[in-house]
Amino acid sequence: MSNKTTLISDEQLQKQFEYCDQIAAYWQQRDTVPKAYVETYGCQQNEADSEKIRGYLAQSGYSIINEAEGADVVVMNTCAIREHAEQRVFGNLGALVHTKRRHPGQKIFLCGCMAGQTIVSDRIKNSYHHVDGVFSTHHLWQFPEILCNVLYRGKRQFYVADEPGSIAEGIPQIRDNKLKAWVSIMYGCNNFCTYCIVPYVRGRERSRKPDDILAECKDLIAAGIKEITLLGQNVNSYGKDLDCGVDFSDLLSMIAELEGDFLIRFMTSHPRDAGRKLFDTMAKYPKIAKQLHLPFQSGSSRVLKAMNRHYDREKYLAAVAYAKSVMPDLVLTSDVIVGFPGETEEEFEETISLIEAVRYDALFTFIFSPRHGTPAASMEDPTPKEEKNRRFDKLCAVQNRISEEIHAAYVGKALRCLVDGKDGDQLTARTEGGRLVRLSGDDALIGTYQTITITGSTTWSLTGNRKEK
Ligand code: SAH
Ligand code: SF4
Ligand code: F3S
Repeated sequence: MSNKTTLISDEQLQKQFEYCDQIAAYWQQRDTVPKAYVETYGCQQNEADSEKIRGYLAQSGYSIINEAEGADVVVMNTCAIREHAEQRVFGNLGALVHTKRRHPGQKIFLCGCMAGQTIVSDRIKNSYHHVDGVFSTHHLWQFPEILCNVLYRGKRQFYVADEPGSIAEGIPQIRDNKLKAWVSIMYGCNNFCTYCIVPYVRGRERSRKPDDILAECKDLIAAGIKEITLLGQNVNSYGKDLDCGVDFSDLLSMIAELEGDFLIRFMTSHPRDAGRKLFDTMAKYPKIAKQLHLPFQSGSSRVLKAMNRHYDREKYLAAVAYAKSVMPDLVLTSDVIVGFPGETEEEFEETISLIEAVRYDALFTFIFSPRHGTPAASMEDPTPKEEKNRRFDKLCAVQNRISEEIHAAYVGKALRCLVDGKDGDQLTARTEGGRLVRLSGDDALIGTYQTITITGSTTWSLTGNRKEK
């Protein structure tokens, strides 16, 4: 397969904007301001895609609302990472039969990672007749065309052809958050970890051009954005397909050298190619948050090999040791899978000992979920569900203790935090490392950096007081 990235041309995108005009005309003829609802499941990549779907909808004259009831268009942007995520979508999709009955003109679309699986699109085609259209992530840029076809022709649309994927620049975006923004720097994944569905539903790795990314970051900073999170399934592979001599560390430096008061975060780093250059770059620039999400998945080198992760326990621990040596205040988070097919009790204990050795600030913990079409789904898996649940509970207990201990050590420190919102009658803020702080204070503080003295802690968050200047 060619690794040359296909770019959607200006003419192709222009055509989509013409479809937006046709949709707007459809509603003008009916003297109606239509309403749209977009429901997002899964990771930040889907959040970023939903911003584009909303952008297209707004350009087509829709006002965006927060519920399916009464919406003229409902878009479900789905996640396929684990079975539970898919079951939720099917459940919620079933419930839309009723909202559609109460609002018969309602058009319902399913997109995102689930839509990239033939097994799902066939099921929708055959059993969910109230769904008007299905499109995979590769076809998101054609959403106006799909919606226009449904409105004018009244026919169900399925844009689910399998392809390596493309890059479309210039799709309008509606960003809800005025302080924080996601910026996709690349799409897809080439790693094919044996348990993971992502490479099958998001296509091959393809990087946006550095100039396009820099221009977007500059616009965001000028608009007052305080935190930019660079997104990719494996950001360390950035640029490999471009041949322009810019790797991920170079890109980070270029963004960190932009004018303005902002922080850069990024996710996800794959341990295979997270090396010294990356950590040295992070250490060098104050604008790069000292926060690293470095999924390890398992503490056993045998399991890591079966997962096709391309690193072993020793290499992972060495990377973490170096990162901590150049960034003593580094906040480290990770993902881990319990109960991978064939994982033994001893191998599980190696995961526990890795957690004890690294001492993560927080962990995202998952029980292995077989995904149709991935190699791990057909591996021998003799461990009973109850045993996997027991391991999972043990792992969570260990991590909770560590998180609690690390948080307790914050008490008494004064930290610069971005006040980013409200939860109940308290303000919320984030430390540079991304930890949540609750405090009392005036709403006017939202959007400002404040020095906060930490006065209390729990497993999940910190509490503090604003330090008067
Ligand atoms: N690209 C990122 C991860 C994306 S998916 C990376 O490589 O680190 C987010 C997390 O979901 C993964 O890190 C993994 O821990 C978990 N995950 C993925 N597939 C899974 C499966 N089939 N069962 C259980 N957890 C899974
Ligand atoms: Fe999935 Fe592995 Fe790619 Fe992450 S790196 S998205 S876990 S295949
Ligand atoms: Fe889910 Fe797709 Fe993200 S499968 S985790 S929404 S890349």
